[in-house]
Amino acid sequence: MAVLVTGGAGYIGSHTVRRLREAGVDTVVLDTLERGSREALLGAPLVVGSIADEALVTEVCREHDVTAVVHFAAHKSVGDSMVDPGPYWTNNVQGTVHLIEGMLAAGVRNIVFSSSAAVYGSPEQVPITEGAPIRPENVYAETKAMMERVIDWYGTTSGLRWASLRYFNAAGASTDSVIGEDWSSTTNLVPLVMRAALTDVGPVDVFGTDFDTPDGSGVRDYIHVEDLAEAHLAALRYLEADGENLTVNLGTGNGTSVLEILAMTAEIHGAEVPHRISGRRLGDPATVYADSTLAGRTLGWTATRGLREIISSAYAWYRQG
Ligand SMILES: NC(=O)c1ccc[n+]([C@@H]2O[C@H](COP(=O)([O-])OP(=O)(O)OC[C@H]3O[C@@H](n4cnc5c(N)ncnc54)[C@H](O)[C@@H]3O)[C@@H](O)[C@H]2O)c1
Repeated sequence: MAVLVTGGAGYIGSHTVRRLREAGVDTVVLDTLERGSREALLGAPLVVGSIADEALVTEVCREHDVTAVVHFAAHKSVGDSMVDPGPYWTNNVQGTVHLIEGMLAAGVRNIVFSSSAAVYGSPEQVPITEGAPIRPENVYAETKAMMERVIDWYGTTSGLRWASLRYFNAAGASTDSVIGEDWSSTTNLVPLVMRAALTDVGPVDVFGTDFDTPDGSGVRDYIHVEDLAEAHLAALRYLEADGENLTVNLGTGNGTSVLEILAMTAEIHGAEVPHRISGRRLGDPATVYADSTLAGRTLGWTATRGLREIISSAYAWYRQG
């Protein structure tokens, strides 16, 4: 028996594969390796291929006696999705249809899906509950909302059983510095701050210090990647125990500002992080953080790591080069 992890060689996927294996769950990863890396799998079985290859998905499910899928594989750049949307509709939405058809053909019915807080767009109210309106503001977010709908419909038509996990901002690296996020092509704040602190790339931009927030900079909900990994294990167990289909937020329930991230990094680094104050980006909301009580109630999961663990684990990971 095994869990098929699509996109398992990527950032969140590799931490999840590691956590599942530690918990005694066998995994097999399906990844194109267009991002992510074989090394991040730490020896877990890997099939190099795409979720769009339905026959391959069925074959892998049969060969490895797969009982559930954790579905990370997707394109995830908001900016790219607005410049070149085609691959986002194809890979994310159509790819998910192929994946589900392939797994159902092998009799696999349980899926844990990587959704995103981006489906909410700019929230009217914080903390954001799962009942908030779904209002994607870019193509990437729209594909995540559509993937959720596709999965939900397969529940109705084909008995698919699912948990859609809406992540807020994943950040940090493994506590032992063995795996972490590749900073070469990321647009995420924490790796950009680390790069500004640890290389001569120049200052990191702070987009807006005139928001209606305590220090004027944007506030988001940063969740440690190892906490996210733990939530996937909890979601798999929940489905195994016949839990109802479920959509849950995964966040800490706390907002952290850009300037607080810079201050925590400066404390750990022992020096100021080069940064420059720039204007707000179009459409950036002031404050986004999760109401995560539903995840606690249904999955028995809460985030256990805070900002210090996020920044210190990321710092240690990037510093080793
Ligand atoms: N990083 C975040 O803060 C965040 C927040 C919300 C949601 N998510 C979602 O979580 C998932 C994982 O994010 P990540 O940060 O680990 O991204 P990542 O880019 O590091 O990992 C994605 C992996 O999927 C693989 N992949 C892409 N298309 C594939 C395909 N067709 N078939 C097989 N493999 C394919 C890539 O090679 C990569 O290894 C994504 O679906 C993303 O949208 C991430």
